[in-house]
Amino acid sequence: MSFIELKNINKSFGKKNSKVDVLEDLNLSIEKGELVAIMGKSGSGKTTLLNILAGIDTPDSGEYLFDEKPMKIRNAADGVKFRRNNIGIVLQHFALINDFTVSENIEVGLWESGLSIVEKNKRIIEVMEQLQISDLKDKYPGKLSGGEKQRVAIGRAIICRPSLLLADEPTGSLDSSTEENIIKIIQDLNKTNGTTVIVVTHDDEVAKSCMRTIHLEKH
Ligand SMILES: Nc1ncnc2c1ncn2[C@@H]1O[C@H](COP(=O)(O)OP(=O)(O)OP(=O)(O)O)[C@@H](O)[C@H]1O
Ligand SMILES: [Mg+2]
Repeated sequence: MSFIELKNINKSFGKKNSKVDVLEDLNLSIEKGELVAIMGKSGSGKTTLLNILAGIDTPDSGEYLFDEKPMKIRNAADGVKFRRNNIGIVLQHFALINDFTVSENIEVGLWESGLSIVEKNKRIIEVMEQLQISDLKDKYPGKLSGGEKQRVAIGRAIICRPSLLLADEPTGSLDSSTEENIIKIIQDLNKTNGTTVIVVTHDDEVAKSCMRTIHLEKH
């Protein structure tokens, strides 16, 4: 069985006349250690799909198996717990906290982890080294470039050592040389840390850097 299995997933928004069927009978399998791109037109349901995978949203029908276990998200707290233990999320616009430094922003990913301060600090140092942002540790987001901000956001996402990293257009706000750097970092996390990664992208270069591409159709 695959690490992630979606079987006949349906998701729509709205009611009656204004109903939009976003995902229709979607089937998907992703193996542990894969680096997968998701492409599709605007409105084809890419973010909706990531939200379902992250337990932020639930499908109307169908089955979602994560690591061979059926997902059971009954309320918001279940989703928070699931993400805390399993998922890292990276977004296009970084979503950093402006009055936190780089290291404090990364530490956000360890809130409620239950780790000791010593262990937290050790991990923060390790992650900053891996992402080559140690020099920036006391800087505030307002003083960082887009690529630097995204590396901090990736640090926050991976510090809890998630088995699945979900990235929604992570290079969407970056120029092409910075994009290349972020792609390399994502590839390195996939290879070195063994993290399974799903990247939503509109960019062919990003998709080419992945092992395979899943195309969503617009309904
Ligand atoms: N919470 C919601 N309530 C109502 N409609 C929604 C909601 N979330 C998404 N939609 C609709 O579902 C469709 C798919 O949205 P989604 O954000 O998943 O698309 P996307 O593929 O990520 O697009 P983009 O490339 O523009 O980010 C759109 O028509 C959108 O308007
Ligand atoms: Mg989207």
